[in-house]
Amino acid sequence: MILRLLIKLTHITIVLSFLSSCNKTKDIKAAVVSARKEASDIGISVLNKGGSAFDAMIATDLALTVCFPNAGNISGGGFLVYRTASGEVGSLDYREKAPLSAYEKMYLDVNGDVIPEKSTLGGLAVGVPGTVAGLVEIHSKFGTLPWEDLVKPAIDLATNGYIVTEKQERSLKSKKDDFIKINGKKTFYAQDFKAGDTVKNIALAETLKRISKYGAKGFYQGPVAEALVKRVREAGGIITHEDLIKYKPVWREPLNFRYKNLNIYSMGPPSSGGICLGQILKMIEPYNINQYDHNSEKAIQLIVEAERRSYSDRSKYLGDPDFNKISYNQLISHNYLNNRMKSFTFDLASESKDIKAGKIASKESEETTHYSILDKEGNAVAVTTTLNGSYGSKVFVEDGGYFLNNEMDDFSIKPGFANMFGLIGSEINSIKAEKRMLSSMTPTIILKDNKLYMILGTPGGSTIITSVLQTILNVYEFGMDIQSAINAPRFHHQWLPEKIEFENGVFDELSMKKLQDKGYDVKQEYNRVIGRVDAILVSKSGIITTGADPRGDDRASHIYY
Ligand code: DON
Repeated sequence: MILRLLIKLTHITIVLSFLSSCNKTKDIKAAVVSARKEASDIGISVLNKGGSAFDAMIATDLALTVCFPNAGNISGGGFLVYRTASGEVGSLDYREKAPLSAYEKMYLDVNGDVIPEKSTLGGLAVGVPGTVAGLVEIHSKFGTLPWEDLVKPAIDLATNGYIVTEKQERSLKSKKDDFIKINGKKTFYAQDFKAGDTVKNIALAETLKRISKYGAKGFYQGPVAEALVKRVREAGGIITHEDLIKYKPVWREPLNFRYKNLNIYSMGPPSSGGICLGQILKMIEPYNINQYDHNSEKAIQLIVEAERRSYSDRSKYLGDPDFNKISYNQLISHNYLNNRMKSFTFDLASESKDIKAGKIASKESEETTHYSILDKEGNAVAVTTTLNGSYGSKVFVEDGGYFLNNEMDDFSIKPGFANMFGLIGSEINSIKAEKRMLSSMTPTIILKDNKLYMILGTPGGSTIITSVLQTILNVYEFGMDIQSAINAPRFHHQWLPEKIEFENGVFDELSMKKLQDKGYDVKQEYNRVIGRVDAILVSKSGIITTGADPRGDDRASHIYY
């Protein structure tokens, strides 16, 4: 009785907050939502100067490199999904690649055992960076303002400094030992930066100046490349000048599928994001999930069982499409997915196949970054970009002012061995020279009745797909406004390990017990923070609302009518 009353009250609050948020934000004309206020403001300043969402993207991305060094980057990779005001959709893959001299067993010892930390910490963990090539490619296709004007705000931010937040102080502190282990005591980020301190990164400003002047060549050739290759070598890695010069981003068809009257565009392979999101939504679709309450036992079971089936397919069937044939159509076909759900019943948990799940290599905090941009013309941009782990490989190019990624860990370094997110892969995602490692990043743009409806994405490693999924369902099926949909507690299941992880507020004790009785592995100690979604929603009548995740320092900046 009390529970029902509480649920009713929650629903009333949701409706009220929806109405009030509509009033508050009714006048938004353009928006940038990112992990940091500085970056969102810089994106908006570019829009104010007459730049497009694509111009704002470049400036926002580079600003994040400066003030969000754990994930913002010029030395990692990412994915862009876009829809122009005229309705053209596309995606750019600027994911890192394995170096030319990489090989399948490069992280195994003579006995075939995984050498601890080799794929996560230090030079050998670094994939060939794609970000600068990606940004330059986007500018050459869509840029309207001069390249230098888009790099300048990041140069200024690096020169004048950004202010450390409390969360950032904690994050830097938690990784200090690794910074020192890899780079020595004098490394830039081993300084004890405290909340409120100003961080001026002059070396990074210099790197950005070269990128401003010479574009991609400013990063992949010349002194910046020299410093990068030298640092990677010193730290035990294998990236060469040839690797850098050969790097090319790839325009790819976005993954497209329908869910009820939504038309969803997301990232296809080498990200698993689009296919898994499509699979999970389409497995759920026939059940009309909105007949159950939000985060109720049955809603959770349905989502978890669809996730279990999809993540098992991820492990077996997904990898770099330039190296493997991916059965796109079959994997998201109606018949295939209906068959997958035939074994589902609300009475009992399904069992994940009894594969020997490798141990999670390390308890890495989760740092990637997503931003969503909508300009006043209606161009929509969703970008997720990463160094993989927090501050990537922790290898810091002292002369360049930036960290290098540890994206190589996203490969399946040994069949059945779990990566840092507990994901298990197979041959299809094995290491090969110049191959792209499988990702979970899910930058997504959704149309409803053929009109722009939602732009969203999130960091979170393996939980990216399920956080995007829940945000979509929260808005579309459970009637929440975008901010409440983001705030709502999340849960996550990924086939292996068997457990369901959750945030505070998902399960009350009674439903936890009921789920346990049905065979689900839910325990209080699995509790953690899941994802950081940044999103923009456009109502049927064109009202724009934004949601920035309170789990981080994320912030929406706007232009008003
Ligand atoms: O591409 C991927 O799926 C991972 N490298 C993303 C890493 C991530 O999201 C880290 N944390 N938030």
